[in-house]
Amino acid sequence: MLHSIETKSLTKSFGDVVAVNDVSFSVDSGEIFGFLGPNGAGKSTTMMILTTLLKPTSGQALINEFDVMREPKKVRQTIGYVQQETAVDEYLTGRENLLLQAKLNHIPKDQIEQRIDEVLELIELSDKQNESVVTYSGGMRKRLDIAGGLLHRPKVLFLDEPTVGLDIQTRRKIWEYIKKIHKEFEMTIFLTTHYMEETDQLCDRIGIIDGGKIQVIDTPENMKNALGNEVISIVVDVENPEFLSELEKIEFVKKINQDGTKLTLFASNGAEVIPQIFQISSKLNVKINSISLTQPTLDDVFISYTGHEIRDDDSGFNQKREHAKMKRLRA
Ligand SMILES: Nc1ncnc2c1ncn2[C@@H]1O[C@H](COP(=O)(O)OP(=O)(O)OP(=O)(O)O)[C@@H](O)[C@H]1O
Ligand SMILES: [Mg+2]
Repeated sequence: MLHSIETKSLTKSFGDVVAVNDVSFSVDSGEIFGFLGPNGAGKSTTMMILTTLLKPTSGQALINEFDVMREPKKVRQTIGYVQQETAVDEYLTGRENLLLQAKLNHIPKDQIEQRIDEVLELIELSDKQNESVVTYSGGMRKRLDIAGGLLHRPKVLFLDEPTVGLDIQTRRKIWEYIKKIHKEFEMTIFLTTHYMEETDQLCDRIGIIDGGKIQVIDTPENMKNALGNEVISIVVDVENPEFLSELEKIEFVKKINQDGTKLTLFASNGAEVIPQIFQISSKLNVKINSISLTQPTLDDVFISYTGHEIRDDDSGFNQKREHAKMKRLRA
């Protein structure tokens, strides 16, 4: 099968920082593929290499079999790229923004108006098209931004954190639009996100990226199944290594993550495991403050592959967003 995207040992260093470290993956034609990772994981850097905006330090990347280094022009003709920060001009109307985009993308003059009508309808902004973007909500701005990336009907669409900073209802709406676009244009979509739910909702396959390295690539389903079908979370009074090693011996327990006094057990048969946990705790005199049984989520998957939660440095991330927003407001 033809790969829409293929990378081989892609690496990008900025001085001492290895932002993208020996990354190899491929995305099939028509697939929605997601890069899931925290701040600074290397998501945007990878995307900028794939969209020809950055040169890799080493390795290779092909888009529709065109090499990003040797045939950047051909690559650019077949892709749409919606960058992380919204790139619409606030003082133009929605339609004027798209007109600008159409000209930048060299869309034939006689097709411009029709293409704009088409994308406006698709993202349901037709009725607001003649209003200035200053009056648009964050979700509407993002939709307009995405529309701009669709005008030249790209074969591969790159979306860098398409729902970042939006509230959950707006985020859900954007997911619906992305699904609609995918169906309508039958395109390949490569997106990055640090929202687990987003990959679960949209992606056929996910690559978990952390510290510039891909930790695992698989379908959301397989990732969850690999951990067993149940997650048992325990909070104990004090850390006890012996308790941990006894728990590891229980049949059906596939994996345990420890974070101080909080233990997360991935198991295939919770009903069998829980009574044994209590037996061990009473034998070792370990006080259990709480215990709960849930289904594994992608959060759990992320923790199991990286050893930490994805929201670790979310505060820094929000600060960055706020800063960007302030800059826009001041401009
Ligand atoms: N132009 C640059 N110069 C120096 N370092 C950079 C540059 N761009 C990115 N980096 C560094 O490379 C690493 C990866 O950054 P990147 O922007 O790709 O991460 P990300 O996964 O997109 O993060 P975020 O979720 O915050 O958008 C970070 O450590 C970042 O500081
Ligand atoms: Mg980024």
